[in-house]
Amino acid sequence: MYIKPETIATGDGSPTLVHPITGECYHSVHGAVTESRHTFINAGLAECRKQNVTLLEMGFGSGLNALLSLLYGAGHDMRIVYHAVELYPIEPSHAALFGYDRAVDCDPALFAALHEAPWGEATAITDRFTLCKIHRPIESYPFDTLYDIVYWDAFAPDNAEGQWSAELFGRLHESMSEEGILVTYCSKGTVKRALRQAGFTVERLPGAPGKRHMVRARV
Ligand SMILES: C[S@@+](CC[C@H](N)C(=O)[O-])C[C@H]1O[C@@H](n2cnc3c(N)ncnc32)[C@H](O)[C@@H]1O
Repeated sequence: MYIKPETIATGDGSPTLVHPITGECYHSVHGAVTESRHTFINAGLAECRKQNVTLLEMGFGSGLNALLSLLYGAGHDMRIVYHAVELYPIEPSHAALFGYDRAVDCDPALFAALHEAPWGEATAITDRFTLCKIHRPIESYPFDTLYDIVYWDAFAPDNAEGQWSAELFGRLHESMSEEGILVTYCSKGTVKRALRQAGFTVERLPGAPGKRHMVRARV
């Protein structure tokens, strides 16, 4: 069930991963940590006005977004229930080689706990951060929880069109709270149109280094 992706360095010194099947990078080569902070934490989680947050991530991948969210929540008195869907889980012992705990200067045990948490079960990583990793394709995810924040971090639509469809976004829209926010690094016209068709109000924001724009969509 597990993959062991190779790592490559990115512009801010933090690594990204290369998917062994598709050959795609998990993050921007201009800076993995910089992109995650800019797109998902600052434009997404930091915009949430609730102290108890239910969050969905499309693509758990390296666990970097989860780690940054845990740290952000800990510093802002937030309780986060974090659901992450992933079709290609990474071998937990392999994840220790990524060095994201060093890149963001945190306890390595926290990053290890994210990867060692069992799949398909809610696990308290800290008293404020509960993780549930779901091993299945996003296309068949039932969206049976009400989400406040969504990180849509699928691979680019050119190679994964079905993961950016109006039909899928429509089912997601139904399972978001009234003030729900979706953020994604991708600002392609087809993606913005699919989000609007699904009922979202779409906002274009400056992107992380190397990307002109990103998207924030509100319910
Ligand atoms: C851009 S990377 C996500 C990076 C991740 N958020 C992180 O912080 O490292 C896209 C992720 O989607 C996963 N993926 C690809 N196809 C999928 C599918 N059909 N359903 C769920 N996950 C999928 C990949 O394995 C990869 O982990």
